[in-house]
Amino acid sequence: MSVRILALVGSLRAGSHNRQLAEAAVKLAPEGAEVEVFEGLADIPFYNEDIDVADSLPAAAAKLREAAQAADAFLLFSPEYNGTIPAVLKNAIDWLSRPYGASTFGGKPVAVIGTAYGQYGGVWAQDEARKAVGIAGGNVIEDIKLSIPGSVVRFAETHPADDTEVAAQLTEVVARLHGNVGVAA
Ligand SMILES: Cc1cc2nc3c(=O)[nH]c(=O)nc-3n(C[C@H](O)[C@H](O)[C@H](O)COP(=O)(O)O)c2cc1C
Repeated sequence: MSVRILALVGSLRAGSHNRQLAEAAVKLAPEGAEVEVFEGLADIPFYNEDIDVADSLPAAAAKLREAAQAADAFLLFSPEYNGTIPAVLKNAIDWLSRPYGASTFGGKPVAVIGTAYGQYGGVWAQDEARKAVGIAGGNVIEDIKLSIPGSVVRFAETHPADDTEVAAQLTEVVARLHGNVGVAA
């Protein structure tokens, strides 16, 4: 059976370069692994303990948790908003961190990568995402890093899957994440 890697993309815009990176990861997954991009982060309300109860659990949040439970690993794609993680990705992490003591990340491997317009490629946001996911119960693979700067220019005409250097880096990221599935933290 294939290893299932759930991709969460921290940008909602249709032309998101982080989404394109995630699409490229789908194409570049090695044999024995499949990457699925989660659809529906925009529909999940801000985390609120009052609605995180059986009677009120929003369907969109339940869908995210189900997808996470079925996953063997996670690949997060984060741009940088004002020097940190976009709210949409943080919200997903917060939902997956609960119920307390039973995080849906469940100690599974997580890698965080991404692209941003700035010269550091969103490294602050990706570092923040690693910190949050680690606290939220994921097994963050700290040495899987890929922060691609100048997104708006670099991917203006070229999809990441068609950018030879980026495609090679992404292939390695997915292969290394795959290699961490089943390895004790
Ligand atoms: C609200 C906002 C804040 C931003 N802040 C930063 C930033 O701190 N650092 C940076 O490199 N780019 C910043 N950007 C530019 C984003 O990196 C750029 O729009 C990027 O392409 C967004 O990712 P996407 O293509 O996946 O949507 C910001 C963009 C927005 C909309």
